[in-house]
Amino acid sequence: MQDIKKRNKSNNVIQTENKDRNARNSSSPNKMQINKNISLKILSRVVMTFSLLAVVYFSSKDDKFKTFAKQSELLVGKGLVVECSPSYVKDLDKYEGCFPQECKRFVTDKVISLREADELLAIAKKGLKLGGSSGGASILDLHSGALSKGKQFINIYKQEAALNLFDQNDFNIYRVVKEKIKYAVAHHFGVDPNKIYLTHPTFFSEITSKKAVTVHDEYWHPHVDKETYQSFHYTTLLYLGDYNIDFKGGRFVFVDEKFNRTVEPRKSRLSMFTSGRENLHYVEKVTSGTRYAVTISFTCDKHHAIEDPSINKYEIN
Ligand SMILES: *[C@@H]1O[C@H](CO)[C@@H](O)[C@H](O)[C@H]1NC(C)=O
Repeated sequence: MQDIKKRNKSNNVIQTENKDRNARNSSSPNKMQINKNISLKILSRVVMTFSLLAVVYFSSKDDKFKTFAKQSELLVGKGLVVECSPSYVKDLDKYEGCFPQECKRFVTDKVISLREADELLAIAKKGLKLGGSSGGASILDLHSGALSKGKQFINIYKQEAALNLFDQNDFNIYRVVKEKIKYAVAHHFGVDPNKIYLTHPTFFSEITSKKAVTVHDEYWHPHVDKETYQSFHYTTLLYLGDYNIDFKGGRFVFVDEKFNRTVEPRKSRLSMFTSGRENLHYVEKVTSGTRYAVTISFTCDKHHAIEDPSINKYEIN
């Protein structure tokens, strides 16, 4: 951008010099005519400058973002390798067989089917119907039972209304999707599938354009997953709806040095990335509609492994 501005400036300089030369060369028979020409020239220059400024202004607004994954595109797989952050390397050195071949982001629309995404969406919706944050962001964690309600969380498995809400089929589909994602992580990051474990928190999220009430509603601040949740080593996000169709705003944004890269949600799109500082990110504010997604996270630390949710959850409570 800086370069373009400079170039434009020097073009103007050259044009002005040419004009001066032309003026000097012409043997001015009619002063009125010349003045008229000059004011026309000035006018056209002013118009040119404003249109140039407009172009620069509007294109610079777009330049802030690079679209990494477009909603309208069906991606077999698109990855970007990034340099692992030193703290991530240091932490992962402790776990054998869990160190990624390279730190990166990888987006694919081919691991989870639309049907699986729809089934998960139905599970998310029926659970979240019993809760709902007073602000714009609600979560449902089928592992712990945490469900946003008002300004806090309740345990869905302790709600009478939730009894028999989820059946065996729901838990099966959840587990199948989780397994597929675990193998996809192992495959794409070159790690042993037996050395990564599902970890807490793994949850459904529902975001609307409602104003934030508590800090839990403020999803738009840039953050590093590994710093927010110590146990995270691999973060995966599965989108259950479409950007610009089911909701507006709500793009996922990787914060990089030169520009920020967006992942536009698409139903059944899976995004996977190493959870260290190399993948600083945030979610843009949702401006209309409702955005559903599942965050499924993996750790290298066996001590932080969590069980798959199951129908037994009801019996415990
Ligand atoms: C990327 O996003 C961050 C966080 O919103 C912002 O501070 C930064 O200026 C953005 N980078 C660019 C190049 O626009």
